[in-house]
Amino acid sequence: MKFFIDTADVAEIKEAQSLGILDGVTTNPSLIKKSGRPFNDVAREICKLVPGPVSLEVTAIDCAGMLKEAEKLAKFGDNVVIKLPLIPEGLKACKKLTEQGIKTNVTLCFSPVQALLAAKAGATYISPFVGRLDDIGQDGFEIIPQIRQIYDNYGFETEILVASVRHPVHVHNSALAGADVATIPLKVFQQLVQHPLTDKGLAQFLKDWESVKA
Ligand code: E4P
Repeated sequence: MKFFIDTADVAEIKEAQSLGILDGVTTNPSLIKKSGRPFNDVAREICKLVPGPVSLEVTAIDCAGMLKEAEKLAKFGDNVVIKLPLIPEGLKACKKLTEQGIKTNVTLCFSPVQALLAAKAGATYISPFVGRLDDIGQDGFEIIPQIRQIYDNYGFETEILVASVRHPVHVHNSALAGADVATIPLKVFQQLVQHPLTDKGLAQFLKDWESVKA
């Protein structure tokens, strides 16, 4: 299972990279805004810093506009993945970019049938947003094993990239459901490694060692 970080903050990316388990980055226009930096600067820096896939999102809502933007975004590096919204125009653009050998991440997916459409359009990644479904009172995670089953039923190679991850349970369930990737905020990366019994056990080992070491 791959771990991406869901941020446009370079300091956060470096922090996650230092753990040695980071495979890629996802961004979106809101995360770019949160970084407080011009899009071109931040996109260029992230693509250089991270050897793995970096998702950069288009903002056009028509296929021709998306393709034009994709051409510009692809210039930031060989690792760029074009992020497209799951709307009819996004599916058309996905199909065309796939035919050109360009990697895509179809985003804002909230149902298994939407995920099926993205796979049929040749998406490299599908991004189901589990946290935002939780936010409206649905069990957001329910759709992940369903998408897994649909993709496995027909041998689709589109990778399931669990997005809108809010806590370690989302990551735990992603791994159990056979998701290919989870894109994780830095805070959740930090929560994943923590366990109070690890800290308590280590403190005891160090204390005992103090009394026996030569
Ligand atoms: C990632 O690709 C998504 O844009 C992101 O995970 C959305 O997360 P949010 O629902 O916390 O904004």
